[in-house]
Amino acid sequence: MKIMNVTEENLDDFIKLCIPPGREKDELFFRGGEEKRRWALQMMKRHGSVAKIAYLNSRPAGLIQYVPQPDEKVVQITCIFVPERENLRKGIGRALLNVVIEVVKRLEPRPSALVTWVFRVPETFPQDEFFRRMGFREVEGGDTMLLYYPLQEGFVYRPERKEYIP
Ligand SMILES: CC(C)(COP(=O)(O)OP(=O)(O)OC[C@H]1O[C@@H](n2cnc3c(N)ncnc32)[C@H](O)[C@@H]1OP(=O)(O)O)[C@@H](O)C(=O)NCCC(=O)NCCS
Repeated sequence: MKIMNVTEENLDDFIKLCIPPGREKDELFFRGGEEKRRWALQMMKRHGSVAKIAYLNSRPAGLIQYVPQPDEKVVQITCIFVPERENLRKGIGRALLNVVIEVVKRLEPRPSALVTWVFRVPETFPQDEFFRRMGFREVEGGDTMLLYYPLQEGFVYRPERKEYIP
């Protein structure tokens, strides 16, 4: 297995990993893919790479996407996905997460935690279970689907309350 940054060169691999086989030409998936391309290019300009792909026998097999949130001094994992059944449980998810942990530990200033909002996708191994097994914890008194992984000893994540003012 080889883990690579998502760059302009392999952006198509990144987009295709989230499109179910055979749906590449569906209007909605196509438009979604183009939106994702625009978003990724913008984020790469701002933050450098914001996603990594695991290649197994030179084929894209999984991805992780993460976005720095400097206002809270955390990095948010916005997606982790290993789509093909035959690639599951081979350590790809764990390897992707570990690479991101190593990368964000070297950021200056060093973020205090990785955070993630988990959501369940039917017929897949639940992300919240995966992240809990990888050492993520629940925010105290908060939403059980908001998990964090401290990058500094003793750090406790308390999300900022943000009000929506229309
Ligand atoms: C979560 C996910 C990324 C894990 O990927 P993976 O490569 O299969 O995970 P790993 O092989 O690295 O497993 C790491 C650990 O997670 C746990 N785990 C993963 N899959 C599991 C399963 N099916 N049953 C029980 N434990 C499991 C185990 O503790 C495992 O460690 P172990 O194999 O040493 O026991 C993958 O299941 C997935 O993509 N799920 C869907 C996630 C999703 O909804 N993403 C959003 C899509 S839009």
